[in-house]
Amino acid sequence: MKLNIVTTESVKANENKAYALFFVKQSVQFSKVLTEAGNAQVETVLKGMKDGPFEDLELLEIDGSNTIFVDAAKERGLSALDHLRMAAYRLAGRAMKKQIGTVSLMLADCADEQFKAILHGLHYAEYKFDAYKTKQKPNFQVAYEIVAGEHAASFKKIAEEVAVENKAIVLAKNLINTCAADLYPAEFVENAKTIAKYTPGLTVKERDMKQLAKEGFMGHVTVGKGSSHEPYMVTLDYKPAKRTSKDHLVIVGKGLTFDTGGLCLKPPKSMPEMISDMSGAATALAAIQAIATLKLPIHVSAVCCLAENAIGNKSVLPGDIFKAKNGKTVMVDNTDAEGRLVLSDGLAEAGLIGATHIVDLATLTGAMVRALGYAVAGFFSNDDDLALKVINCGEACCEKFWSMPLEEEYADALKDKFADLKNTGSDAGAIAAALFLQEFVPENTAWAHWDIAGTAFTTKKWKYTEYGATGFGVQTLIELAREMLQTN
Ligand code: BES
Ligand code: ZN
Ligand code: ZN
Repeated sequence: MKLNIVTTESVKANENKAYALFFVKQSVQFSKVLTEAGNAQVETVLKGMKDGPFEDLELLEIDGSNTIFVDAAKERGLSALDHLRMAAYRLAGRAMKKQIGTVSLMLADCADEQFKAILHGLHYAEYKFDAYKTKQKPNFQVAYEIVAGEHAASFKKIAEEVAVENKAIVLAKNLINTCAADLYPAEFVENAKTIAKYTPGLTVKERDMKQLAKEGFMGHVTVGKGSSHEPYMVTLDYKPAKRTSKDHLVIVGKGLTFDTGGLCLKPPKSMPEMISDMSGAATALAAIQAIATLKLPIHVSAVCCLAENAIGNKSVLPGDIFKAKNGKTVMVDNTDAEGRLVLSDGLAEAGLIGATHIVDLATLTGAMVRALGYAVAGFFSNDDDLALKVINCGEACCEKFWSMPLEEEYADALKDKFADLKNTGSDAGAIAAALFLQEFVPENTAWAHWDIAGTAFTTKKWKYTEYGATGFGVQTLIELAREMLQTN
């Protein structure tokens, strides 16, 4: 992104330049904005327009004036910050379409978090996934001039951070959108290794199927053995030279590079979307890349649990029983409930490397999609402090989380006649899955499980995503790592 942060306007008005005025405060009057923008051209344009609050204005473009008014018009359900992101996203879309060379954003009035929101919105507009198109049309490059007044210094720092966050979001989206023929477990591992190579402070450890079996990570083996693409677990570790937090955050991601359902085959309609069943792992990888790049002084690891749930003559059979890494035996009642099996290994690995806090992310259940839809992720936690942090960090990042109960009354439904546990439970499917995972959480560890089945991938336009991966969770994870610094 071409971005220039200045105290006062430096690119002079010309035909290929537009001004964008953001109305970030509710009841700002035309005249006030005009005076603050202090721009003669804008003033001319506005002459004759009635004075009034901007609350009702939609994104407004005045033809021939080169002035784009961006009102953070109310969009149902969005926070004020998200609203700004949307406005910036639409502004950038228009500017690209109209091939405006420079857009000056008059943001001297903006608070830091408002500027951050606007910047994220501009970045979102530039994302597109056309790797598989034979005719690729690169975006028109708009240059943004941020007129920041006395905020110039702090805005520059924010812009650097947002660029790192956006790079991570793009990474997650690209991995999620790539089809399963091109992104199978071993290929995901290659991506992780490349990222570790180019990110100082990040180390990587991989385990192939033979190694997983040897060490007793049988969840991976059970789920992945039916595929010609063997399963892997990859653990990335970021240990900063100087740590201000004594916590060790381990992010565990479900990485099903494809989920056919296995022998309990999914119906055709819901299958293509299952290229996104590795969203948890992609989000974990993206977040640790950003956390390491930002050099946050906290120990963070990411455990990516990679497998392809396929049909083959070696596929796991319903009724099969295996012994998980923590010693518990599990009967595979439904081969489509595979995410919780690989995650049992991921949670065990988190304990082995010394996690004090675990966040696992998984496109885990269709039940969560039915409960909360595509706009809100449900999460479960055994720790009130961590739960509160998840909600607050989510809010700061325009990502919505809703706390769900680890309802003990439903725990009995997970018991099996022969084995200790089975991989299906009560009718409350999202809760059953979370209770199953809880059986594998290491002792004395704060844990939160995010079920992102609804939020990770969208099949219709949602906020700043047309179709495909949303990048949901990347920012909240980064923010959570930042937040954990504050309290230690
Ligand atoms: N990957 C799916 C969950 C999913 C559904 C993700 C829709 C994204 C969109 C998961 O592995 C699965 O199939 N879960 C089953 C569990 C059931 C068999 C107990 C489900 O939710 O139907
Ligand atoms: Zn499944
Ligand atoms: Zn799945």
